[in-house]
Amino acid sequence: MAQTILVTGSTSGFGRLTVETLARQGYIVFAGMRAVAGKNAPAAEELRALADREHLTLHIIEIDITDDASVEQAIASLVGITGRLDVVVNNAGIAYSGPLEAFTLKQVQQQFDTNVFGMWRVNRAALPHMRKQGSGLLLQIGSIAGRVALPFLGLYGATKFALEGLTESYRDELAPFGIDAAIIEPGTYPTPIDAKHQVAADTERAALYQTALDAFMTPFYAENRSATPPDSQEVADAVARVIAQPAGKRPLHTVVATVAQREAPQAVNDAVTQATQSFFEMLDLPLVTLAPKGEKQELKT
Ligand SMILES: NC(=O)c1ccc[n+]([C@@H]2O[C@H](COP(=O)([O-])OP(=O)(O)OC[C@H]3O[C@@H](n4cnc5c(N)ncnc54)[C@H](OP(=O)(O)O)[C@@H]3O)[C@@H](O)[C@H]2O)c1
Repeated sequence: MAQTILVTGSTSGFGRLTVETLARQGYIVFAGMRAVAGKNAPAAEELRALADREHLTLHIIEIDITDDASVEQAIASLVGITGRLDVVVNNAGIAYSGPLEAFTLKQVQQQFDTNVFGMWRVNRAALPHMRKQGSGLLLQIGSIAGRVALPFLGLYGATKFALEGLTESYRDELAPFGIDAAIIEPGTYPTPIDAKHQVAADTERAALYQTALDAFMTPFYAENRSATPPDSQEVADAVARVIAQPAGKRPLHTVVATVAQREAPQAVNDAVTQATQSFFEMLDLPLVTLAPKGEKQELKT
């Protein structure tokens, strides 16, 4: 039976490409988006038309990940339709850029409310269903900015660092229930996130950093603005590859980026994996790892 997948934030960018890619691969896909009857009605209509044209099992589902009731209702209605939920792709996100001291606390809360608490809400609503099934995958869209700390993207990066830690803890905690967790770490891609991004509200303080900000941002985003920008489909394909791998065999981290952006986050991943393993060994801590299908769950001590 085809797996049921929810992708949050499917109106544009990686989310849009991911739902199209997964639906074409034969999955039952729920394209999550907010304001389906409002500002996102055209995006919803385009996906419905695509589903009709290509005979895809692609449903649109209303979900605002900053709203508890919206998240709970979306998961309940999805499970009401298919009876199960195999994969959640926590893709919805927003980006704030600017010097840390120029953000208001309200902006900091908004950035975390979407990128971190939003993922948390969705996973919290999804997990009871996955636990009942004895299987599932929580797949977060992180960022290379969650592996390498960057100036002027520090607030956004902090939310992506948070996703890293949470994904690792989910992975350890959920293995005994047969549930997997993993994270995709894209580099910079020319999606609409750039046009939608928010800047620090305290313009007086922000102005003090403007020269340094420009000196960092211009080369950092140079490839996106070049004649041959990176192709966002690479991220959708990486999501599909991770989903297609069997439980117990999926990589915890997957960096998807140009060669220049890939090396350092990959080195961080390798070092973290090795250091975490030796931490558990040194302290004699128990760690359950997800067993491939048909094999016994392994308790490493
Ligand atoms: N592009 C990059 O370079 C890059 C690199 C690394 C990681 N990422 C991550 O990739 C993910 C997707 O971003 P993208 O680049 O594809 O940008 P995007 O095109 O702007 O997509 C973001 C999606 O998130 C949705 N969203 C935002 N707040 C939401 C909420 N409260 N409830 C439901 N949906 C919400 C947006 O919906 P609306 O249309 O309604 O706003 C949109 O569908 C994000 O998590 C981002 O941090 C992007």
